[in-house]
Amino acid sequence: MRDLFDKIKENRGPIGQHAKESHGYFTFPKLEGPIAPRMIFRGKERLNWSLNNYLGLANHPEVRAIDAKAAADYGFSSPMGARMMSGNTNHHEQLEAELSEWMGKEDTILCNFGYQAMVSAIDCLVNRHDVIVYDAESHACIIDGVRLHMGKRFVYSHNDIASLEKQLEHAARIVENTEGSILVITEGVFGMSGNQGKLKEIVALKNKFNFRLFVDDAHGAGVMGKTGAGTGEEQGVQDGIDIYFGTFAKSFALIGGYISSDEQIVEYLRYNMRSQIFAKSLPLPLVIGAIKRLELMRTEPKFREDLWKITNALQSGLKAAGFNIGKTNSPVTPVYLNGSIPEATNLILDLRENFNIFCSMVVYPVVPKGVIILRLIPTAVHTLEDVNYTIDAFSKIYGKLASGKYQADKIAAI
Ligand SMILES: Cc1ncc(COP(=O)(O)O)c(C=O)c1O
Repeated sequence: MRDLFDKIKENRGPIGQHAKESHGYFTFPKLEGPIAPRMIFRGKERLNWSLNNYLGLANHPEVRAIDAKAAADYGFSSPMGARMMSGNTNHHEQLEAELSEWMGKEDTILCNFGYQAMVSAIDCLVNRHDVIVYDAESHACIIDGVRLHMGKRFVYSHNDIASLEKQLEHAARIVENTEGSILVITEGVFGMSGNQGKLKEIVALKNKFNFRLFVDDAHGAGVMGKTGAGTGEEQGVQDGIDIYFGTFAKSFALIGGYISSDEQIVEYLRYNMRSQIFAKSLPLPLVIGAIKRLELMRTEPKFREDLWKITNALQSGLKAAGFNIGKTNSPVTPVYLNGSIPEATNLILDLRENFNIFCSMVVYPVVPKGVIILRLIPTAVHTLEDVNYTIDAFSKIYGKLASGKYQADKIAAI
């Protein structure tokens, strides 16, 4: 038998093992000042491409004003308790009604955290007789929800409809015996690669298989589709999404999430979803802040137009400069490079210290060994000058990476 703490001290996890050398720089960096394309990192202004503030709402004057007023009017304590017991308000219900209208769904349940909402909704929707079929590149919150599932689950290759069909055949055979149901789960926009889930093709499979579709559209809500209603709207299949999840943590630049669906399904979630029944409801300033943000998103298409102007310039410029940005068809912009983890850290150090560009890096174990992703998130408040400067800087660091200038045995000293 071993002491639990001894075991943990010996194996601190794939990223945690580098905590001592990387903390405060490569991990847990502190970006200071108002949320904007330019923020302070370690005392210097940096051009920042790492925040999911897609529409630039975080620091919009009307948003800041309503956030401040709601905090002054209600404080962050209110309401106290879970929605079902003592935490319900007219504002919560107003936001749910407005989200339903926007999503084109009958009803919506607000959730106190996006991640928890996904985990808990999956847990709540299925029982041991049911089968879950989900995309292999699903976000951790989907994986964790599936982990709670007591019945069978099948994973299909990322965005591979033939693979999905095969798994649906397995699932269909099982539910015939258990008399259960099938739930298919995908993301609307995959947050790492930026490619959209093939919602249109998945919905078309409903002609052949009996299943319900749950879409995590964390990166699509507010961003995709003519009215910003998300990836279902973008692909013309919003009605084919049976359960829609959106978060407030990205285009809304807030915190919390929501699930929209048929009235009776949402009512079922309201009365059965453990993460909401047994946890405090969203504080009023967040709810009132979300109502304002939603109003801006729905009435001012300019935010999305500006976001797409920057997105298109960034992605076409990177491609023209010879970069591999994969198959993204959303604002999420991954730049795929090859190199070791020490090389990646030297490259990031150069980018931050000599070019004053701050972006996220993704390395093993999130991606295969030897792959480095620099992940850029364009927003409506970036400029075309920001785009050009960044592409130029990327070309320079790419030259250094290719000529071995960043090679090292250990991660960069900071
Ligand atoms: C696809 C996806 N789903 C869910 C979440 C969790 O959302 P939240 O930050 O609101 O908990 C995220 C956030 O990273 C995400 O990218």
